[in-house]
Amino acid sequence: MGHDRFDALAAAWDDHPTPTAIAADLFAFIQGRGLAHAQTRALDYGCGTGLLALRLAAACGAVLGLDGSEGMLGVAAQKIEALGFTNIRVAQHQFPRDPLPDEGANLITASMVLHHIEDVPGFLRAAAALLPPGGACCFADLDTEDGGFHPEGVVIAHRGFDRETLKGWLQEAGFEAPVFETIREVRKGEQVYPIFAVYARRP
Ligand SMILES: C[S@@+](CC[C@H](N)C(=O)[O-])C[C@H]1O[C@@H](n2cnc3c(N)ncnc32)[C@H](O)[C@@H]1O
Repeated sequence: MGHDRFDALAAAWDDHPTPTAIAADLFAFIQGRGLAHAQTRALDYGCGTGLLALRLAAACGAVLGLDGSEGMLGVAAQKIEALGFTNIRVAQHQFPRDPLPDEGANLITASMVLHHIEDVPGFLRAAAALLPPGGACCFADLDTEDGGFHPEGVVIAHRGFDRETLKGWLQEAGFEAPVFETIREVRKGEQVYPIFAVYARRP
């Protein structure tokens, strides 16, 4: 999905309850594993308007939010300023064009971003390479779906994920013992779309 589309969606993004609810669920999942604390340096990939990144900033030592969409980042920057947070920074970044910056992250997160990334195994390898031993990743995304989660005509890279396939990609990238949990079910008409969170750690 092009960044232009997210630029156009940015101003009203936070009005939609689903992304906010999923970000809150993923944050609870992260907290439940004791991963959000003063020593945590989080990199939230595809941070958008900061729905997860700002929750992380309230609990962690430092947060870097990266996203390809200037529009989404503009909304995030306004919110950061309004809240007066000084431990969070957002910057434009496009995977796979730009290398992931090494700023000492020990937690990498992404809420509803992986299905927009073509080369997910490559992204996971880049994430694993950045993390120190014991560093972790936590992602929320869709289980394999029928393509109806997004509006018609919207091009996405993946119609959700098969958990076993994603588990294999995580392990091949160098993460160990991925753990999946269903964190929400999103209803659209007759269809129910389960959302998982996955946690995995660098040995
Ligand atoms: C569905 S939105 C989720 C935003 C935010 N994580 C949330 O939960 O509200 C996906 C975000 O990923 C970003 N994104 C998608 N593909 C990307 C890529 N290849 N590189 C950088 N950002 C990307 C988009 O710009 C968008 O802000």
